[in-house]
Amino acid sequence: MKEDWKKIEQFARTLLINATKNIKSSLYDSITINTKSNENDLVTNKDEEIQRYFFENIKTEFPHHSLLGEEGKGDELKNVNGIVWILDPIDGTMNFVHQKRNFAISLGIYENGIGKMGFIFDVIHNELYFAKRGEGAYLNDQKISPLKNIVLEEAIVAVNAIWLTKNRYLSHEKLGLLIKKIRGSRSYGSAALEMVYVATGRIDAYITPRLSPWDFAAGKIIVEELGGICTTLKNEELSILKNSSVLVSNASIQNELLTNYIEFLPDQKEGKF
Ligand code: IPD
Ligand code: CA
Ligand code: CA
Ligand code: CA
Repeated sequence: MKEDWKKIEQFARTLLINATKNIKSSLYDSITINTKSNENDLVTNKDEEIQRYFFENIKTEFPHHSLLGEEGKGDELKNVNGIVWILDPIDGTMNFVHQKRNFAISLGIYENGIGKMGFIFDVIHNELYFAKRGEGAYLNDQKISPLKNIVLEEAIVAVNAIWLTKNRYLSHEKLGLLIKKIRGSRSYGSAALEMVYVATGRIDAYITPRLSPWDFAAGKIIVEELGGICTTLKNEELSILKNSSVLVSNASIQNELLTNYIEFLPDQKEGKF
């Protein structure tokens, strides 16, 4: 079946605009907050409502497409065949709950495992980051310039402070050396936003040992379109079928980060959280 990519893009944009309006207009309404894997892993009725809104509409319009999303009710993907919509309805739920800012809707559309279109909507700033594979990336209507080379000493790197304490995944000693080497570190609490910040050169790398496909699916397409690199922390290709560690980086510092500052602990298996 020949896919109408213009129609898919337009449909995705309409859903994103409506979802954004919904979130903004109800931002200070009371929300129901539940926890998932632990007491700091939050989910709200809004996360679930937004995912339902996307999935019901996509299923009606494109019944032959597959759906993958954080809040369940998607398809059990056995392979990457066909078109897959990968949604994180609210990336940065903790920020959404506590700060009412610094969260985004993340939507990646893949065909046979290859990222075709990535959308990341920074709801509060009204900024839609969009890339279409091979056709450039945009922030609202403005074309984003490709990334320029930088040196590590002048880099800003996003990493959650938790990984600088002793943990099961990464050598915190090596990360500590990195923090001393670079110009500055940041932590925004939304993987999708951290990815577009690398894509736009606001920061130069983002390091995290645990993400799910809905966290990185859209960001990967945008980052790569601008010349950035997005792999696991072992420099392997990311797959939309599994959880993994993620290194998002300006290409000019990626090798140095991997070689000198990122070390997986020996018995740690990729993707097992
Ligand atoms: C989380 C955020 C956070 C990252 C977590 C993600 P959520 O997504 O992106 O920055 O560190 O690993 O799970 O749960 O807010 O959609
Ligand atoms: Ca979550
Ligand atoms: Ca997420
Ligand atoms: Ca989420």
